[in-house]
Parts: sequence; C-alpha cells; structure tokens
Amino acid sequence: MTKKWWQGSVVYQVYPRSYQDSNGDGIGDLPGLTQRLPYIKKLGADVIWLNPIYKSPDKDNGYDISDYRSIQPAYGTMDDFDTMLESAHKQGLKILMDLVVNHTSDKHEWFEQSRQSKDNPYSDYYIWRDPVDGHAPNNWGSYFSGPAWTYEPKRGQYYLHLFAPGQPDLNWENPKVRQEVYSLMKFWLDKGVKGFRMDVINLISKPAGLPDAPQAPGAPYGNVEPLVSDGPRLNEFLHEMNQEVLSKYDIMTVGEMPGSTPEDAIEYTGLKSNELNMVFQFEHVGLAANPDKKLGKWNDQPIQLVDLKKALSRWQVELDGKGWNSLYWNNHDQPRAVSRFATDDPKYRVKAAKMLGTTLHMMQGTPYVYEGEELGETNVHYQKLDQYEDIESINAYHQLVEKDQAVDGTTMLKYMENMSRDNARTPMQWDDSNNAGFTTGKPWFALNPNYTEINAKSQVDDPDSVFNYYRQLIDLRHNSDLITLGTYEEIDPDDNEVFAYRRHYQGQTLLVISNFTDQTVQRDYGQANSKRLIGNYEDSQNDTLRPYETNVYLLND
Ligand code: GLC
Ligand code: CA
Repeated sequence: MTKKWWQGSVVYQVYPRSYQDSNGDGIGDLPGLTQRLPYIKKLGADVIWLNPIYKSPDKDNGYDISDYRSIQPAYGTMDDFDTMLESAHKQGLKILMDLVVNHTSDKHEWFEQSRQSKDNPYSDYYIWRDPVDGHAPNNWGSYFSGPAWTYEPKRGQYYLHLFAPGQPDLNWENPKVRQEVYSLMKFWLDKGVKGFRMDVINLISKPAGLPDAPQAPGAPYGNVEPLVSDGPRLNEFLHEMNQEVLSKYDIMTVGEMPGSTPEDAIEYTGLKSNELNMVFQFEHVGLAANPDKKLGKWNDQPIQLVDLKKALSRWQVELDGKGWNSLYWNNHDQPRAVSRFATDDPKYRVKAAKMLGTTLHMMQGTPYVYEGEELGETNVHYQKLDQYEDIESINAYHQLVEKDQAVDGTTMLKYMENMSRDNARTPMQWDDSNNAGFTTGKPWFALNPNYTEINAKSQVDDPDSVFNYYRQLIDLRHNSDLITLGTYEEIDPDDNEVFAYRRHYQGQTLLVISNFTDQTVQRDYGQANSKRLIGNYEDSQNDTLRPYETNVYLLND
C-alpha cells in the first residue's frame, strides 16, 4: 500500500490556553504558540492539533463556539493566527483545527435567533421539542450532569444539549445547517490548515423519535451514549461532508468517537470509506470505569494490564489493512498518561514515561503526543473542590455528592484526583522559574507544583530525558515502514505484567517488550543477542526486565 502523509506523521496536541502566554494576562495565546513552534519542531512532530481557538464564552474552554470565523480575543487576532500558520509552514509543521459542530454556544448568532420564535430563519437550526406532560420530552441526561434539555419560555419548547445548557446541539437533519458547516470548514481549509479533529462527531445524527435512554438504577437520567452514538444518518452526513469538502483538499481528519467499535471505525474511516481518515476510540481510556454505573467514569481503581492489552491489541488487529489507528495515551480530556497507565512515583517516573511512549509509538497508526507528555508530566493531585476549573468535574461533584448522594465527598475527590480532565490542563512546564515560564502574570489555572523538577528546560539538552527519548521514538518511526505499516502480533495476552508484541513487514520483524511493573521479571521471546533499536536502560539484559524496562528489537527472519 502507498503511505499517505498522515500515516507517516506524528501529531502534537496543543491546549492553547495552557501552552504559552505572551502578554502577561495569564492565558496562553497564539503569539505564545508561535514562539514555541521551534520546540515542537525539535521534538520532531509533523502536525499540531490545536484545541478550539474560536470566539467562545468559554463555558467548556472553547468547546462552546459563538463565532466559527473569529479568534477568541484572549488568544489573539486573526493576524496572529495567520502569522502562526505561516511560521508553522515555514518550519514544515502542519496545523490541524478542532471542528466542534455537534453543538455551538448558546451565544452563537444562530441560537440567539433560533430561541426567539418558531418561525425565524434559524428556528430549525437546533433540536427543539414540545414539553410532554409539562416535562422534558425524554429522560436524556447530559454528559456534564443534569438533564440534556433546557426550557425556553419564548418558544414554549425545550432544546437539546448533550453537553452543558450553553452548548445546544445543532440539527443536522436540516440541510442548511450542514451547508453552514461545510462553508466554515472551507474557510479554514482555504487558509491552509491541513485538516480537522472532529469533536464528538459520531453524536451528530440523533435517533428518530428521540426515545428514552437506558437508565441505571438510582440514576436521575438516562445514559445517552448508546443511543446517540453512531446514529442512523451518520454515514450519510460524513459521506456528504467528504464529497462537498474533504475530498477537495489534501488533508487529514480524525473523528472523536466515544463508544465506537473497530467495526464502526472501519465503516466511517476505513481506507475505502470515503469519509474520515481515523477515529479517536475510547476503549483503553474507558477501562476501570466504576462498577456502580451511576458513577460512570469516576473511579480510583488501577487499570489491569491484561485489559489494556486486550483493548489496544483488538484495534491493532481489526483495523489492519482496513482502516488506520490513532494512537494516544492522553489528551485534554484524560488524566496524564504516566500517572494513569504506569506510575508518577519520582523513583520510576522517567523510566515509566519512556516505557509508555515506546509501547504506543511502536504500534501501527498515527501517534498523538499531548503537550507535556513528552516531558513525563504527571497528574496534579488536587485535594479540594475549589481547586478545580473543569465544568465536567465540578458538575459531577455537585450532582453525585450533593443531589444524588450517590457517593461521599471524600471518595469523590479521590476519584477526581484520579480522573479529572483538569489533570491535563495545568499550564505547560517550560522551566523552573516563577510559573514555569508559562506566564509573567497570574496563570488562569494553577501550575502543577512539580514544575521545578519536571520542565522542558532541564530536558531539551539532556540526552537521557523523556523529551529526547520521544524525539528518538519519532525519528525511528519516520525512518521505518516496519514501524509505520507493519502488521501487529500480540504475545501472551494473559500476561498481566509485560506488554509484548511483534510487528511484521516485508520479511522484517520488530519485537517490543515493556515491563509495566516496578519489579524485575524474566521473559524470553527470543530477544537474546538481537539488535536493539531503542530502550530505556543503558543496555539490555536480554531475558531480565528491570522495573518499567522497555526494549525494541529488530529480528531477522
Ligand atoms: C469533546 C471534547 C471535550 C468537550 C466535549 C464537548 O469530548 O474533547 O473537551 O468537553 O467534546 O464539546
Ligand atoms: Ca495571553
């Protein structure tokens, strides 16, 4: 098969609010990002995915957009964007935008109009329903706690919002809405952006009749995900989007698809689908959810390696030759990788971060590195509710602890320490000076105090740093079709300590062995005396694997 540019690329994700402040207002911005492009280039990434930078009331940090064609003033101006884009292109970096079109902000002009009456030009841009017996039209709960419906007295109707009330869902059944979306996509593509990460794109087609959703015992609302993901017209909408927009540009697309299976992924992003290029699947980041269903993702249980292997291996095997994986450990919605999948104990943190990077970057797919992951940044370990910023976390606390009394406050705070999205949103740790070099002012969100130990400045020139290890991983991939394209073979799925697999391509075999424990263990996969491509200890001791040891070998068939 011929390799597409996005198959050979590595993506670096920037959360602009927390990347680099340039004017001392405590908020990361576009000129700040422009200053830091050489750092991203140095790491070796090819593409930068930017979380939303559009005008927004920031109810959900930019995922509530009030104008798709302007820049959030705190991030700068359109000129600042153009300057950033030009500078990125000069350095050989491509820019991927976040496309958030399942919903807009309630302050978007379309919604401001739509809510006025049932007969204005925008009245059918959103999903409006009459009350049923004086209540919301169905039992749907929002992803951010509370009901998914809010009443608008002016229309005497409810509107649907799968997320916060400030994020009304667009009505994709309306062809005018779809044309608006295609037009704003072209606006950015014509500027030269190289594609989109599509926010919750598998939720855009709602089931006909909007039936009630399954409700866990004791839960106040139904769980919408099984009902609204991969809806009846999703294929049709994505196909149309491809015909009208995507196919006209040489770009990459990745659809965020909670709840989707490898089968779904092949349907929407298969190499022959003519829809999108790849999905962000949720299987490995959904492991160890609370067995008490009404607590959803909130838990403090460690992930079992056998489950993690099963999830990742399944996607590797099932998409091989049919689709293309996106490879990620974390992003702005997930806890920090090293804390979640290995350990942030200072004794092992560096080894563990390198081990995780290796395990993921040697798989088939396009790797995504979330800002700070390349430094081995950790969870922030907040202990108090008022330290949190994130709407999902704060709402969940109020709902589950105070309203539903489904869990006590102390336990919920433990769950949040483990799972909150805020773990990933603390400002980037550039150096050990005040506020880590992120801002000269008061940061919008507190820094992780460990920035004095973990920061870019101390790592960029240190050959043994996590940063330079990631650099080598990226470099290896860039120079190897075996790593990029090879097929995947899992080894010992029942081994709960070691994650090992082989990759095969044109008579060559790659062997990847990662010890996920803090113990020394013995494993023999025939690696003795083979050529080692990379590893996180100075040498390899063949069958002996020290704590969090990882090695990659090239075997001759
Ligand atoms: C996606 C985003 C998340 C946001 C949600 C609603 O999951 O990644 O940050 O809150 O969609 O737009
Ligand atoms: Ca700023």
